[in-house]
Amino acid sequence: VAVPTMASPQAMDWLQLQQAVAGCTACGLCHGRKNTVFGVGDNKAKWLFIGEGPGRNEDIQGEPFVGPAGKLLDNILLAMGLKRGENAYIANIVKCRPTDGTGRDRPPSPEEVAACLPYLQRQIELIQPTVLVALGKTAALSLLGLDAATPVSKLRGSVHRYADRPLIVTYHPAYLLRQLGDKGKVWADLSLAMSTYAQAGD
Ligand code: URA
Repeated sequence: VAVPTMASPQAMDWLQLQQAVAGCTACGLCHGRKNTVFGVGDNKAKWLFIGEGPGRNEDIQGEPFVGPAGKLLDNILLAMGLKRGENAYIANIVKCRPTDGTGRDRPPSPEEVAACLPYLQRQIELIQPTVLVALGKTAALSLLGLDAATPVSKLRGSVHRYADRPLIVTYHPAYLLRQLGDKGKVWADLSLAMSTYAQAGD
């Protein structure tokens, strides 16, 4: 008897991966979404920025970081000589918007992260970025496999590794909007990211 099997993201090309995400039903987040948010940028970008997951605006527009935090991220990218949609690829840990019972954004659960992570892993394999930047706690902890008690402050300032590539951890732009005093720390993180990129030599 032929058993229908879902193709593993590991074997997919970019278009197949986009289609698989667009039709994904691997976790309950598929029921509430308006759009999946695959990511934006050149799929040969050398920089990959990874956020948490779509919020309200991203769910409506199908693009990551399009709200106020996204404006700040765009400015951060510009300061690094990078541009959304071009040499910086922007993606999230989960591709569908997590909401609580009252319709507000919430972080994804560990199960939702586990269901979605193979897509991001395949994106990384196909993009082959030189440096990964985790924006905030959810991205950092999900990639590094750490528990929720680990603060971002402990992970900043070191070059971690994920998928055989350097990974820098910094604050999430939405956090930064609330804590402008931590802007200097983000510049320090980004300068670590830029020197890591320069050392990686491509
Ligand atoms: N916050 C995120 O982490 N990702 C988005 O795409 C938007 C807001």
